[in-house]
Amino acid sequence: MSQRYRIAVIPGDGIGREVVPEGLRCLHAAAEVHGFELEIAEFSFASADYWQRHGAMLPPDWREVLGGFDAIFFGAVGRPEVVPDHVSLWGSLLQFRRGFDQYVNLRPVRLLRGVRSPLRDHEPGDIDFLIVRENTEGEYSSIGGRIFEGTDRETVLQETVMTRTGVDRVLRYAFELAAGRPRRQLTWATKSNGISISMPYWDERAAAMARRYPDVAADSDHIDILTAKFVLQPQRYDVVVASNLFGDILSDLGPACAGTIGIAPSANINPDRTWPSLFEPVHGSAPDIAGRGIANPVGQIWSGAMMLDHLGEPAAAARVVAAIESVLDERPDVLTPDLGGSGTTGSLGGAIAAEIAGGP
Ligand code: NAI
Ligand code: MG
Repeated sequence: MSQRYRIAVIPGDGIGREVVPEGLRCLHAAAEVHGFELEIAEFSFASADYWQRHGAMLPPDWREVLGGFDAIFFGAVGRPEVVPDHVSLWGSLLQFRRGFDQYVNLRPVRLLRGVRSPLRDHEPGDIDFLIVRENTEGEYSSIGGRIFEGTDRETVLQETVMTRTGVDRVLRYAFELAAGRPRRQLTWATKSNGISISMPYWDERAAAMARRYPDVAADSDHIDILTAKFVLQPQRYDVVVASNLFGDILSDLGPACAGTIGIAPSANINPDRTWPSLFEPVHGSAPDIAGRGIANPVGQIWSGAMMLDHLGEPAAAARVVAAIESVLDERPDVLTPDLGGSGTTGSLGGAIAAEIAGGP
């Protein structure tokens, strides 16, 4: 009996619906070569269409519906002219992240062969690091409110939440990752000079964790200079761990330094494996190019590789990443416009699937 994985597929909105099929095509090709089975169930919720029909982003029993899957393969959500972005995101993706305790958001940043970095003088291999973002608490809390609305005394308050459990577990995950990499380096993002209560606490917990990992060279940067160094010296970094807000910003900037946001993957991981983890590209639904068949599918396909790795198929995952890299490098004829080509979502996805199936 070959291994069988049950995958919940949620295309969402916009280009999510265009890149997810290419992601699946590549996953099926990898399954064929490596001899495992994928059982796919597709869901139409977490989309503007669903919201228009049901007045909610998700069915009330979404936790039961999705909870038993081995993983969730997600496209992108958002159609701001139909549903305000904070409603669509809080109503779907943020529910999954919190409800399934996906407390690690992992985003690799790698300059691949065949992709030109917007930064001058960088070769493939120069930029190769991992961003670990806290994904369930921190600055993204819904604690706060408005009082005296519409008057001169109008007051708005929103709190940051840091728990010892929440901070320690994401730091531990990042230190474990760093300990298993050749460079064994870790940088934590802070802003304890300006945010004088929660960030010194974050620093304190990070320093305590660093003492438990003497083999990992750990340091910290304030978020402002850290963003500058991402651009000026991206080769410095190996593992970067950050709170929810800082991690969100870094994980768009990092991939942008490595070429285009269209290729950047991400994983929302529940490391305890009590619940399914969710794999999605970093980009959103890109309403500006949706419907034209020109979205880059690589972010979605690479997210699929991260999913295979998480499921326990590291060889298949490596094959998918290798196929992405060789197609980007050797097939300028199929590249999408964001990569400087005139190919389509389907031509690039198809070439990668073929490479997975027939490559070395
Ligand atoms: P976006 O990532 O959708 O687009 C930003 C820019 O990058 C656009 O110019 C777009 O055309 C381009 N781009 C993105 N992905 C691309 C791809 N695969 N190939 C080629 N070009 C690509 O971010 P934006 O415009 O801020 O948000 C659009 C919608 O997506 C909003 O409704 C937002 O809330 C939602 N969103 C959803 C996310 C998610 O589902 N995880 C993440 C980010 C945004
Ligand atoms: Mg973001």
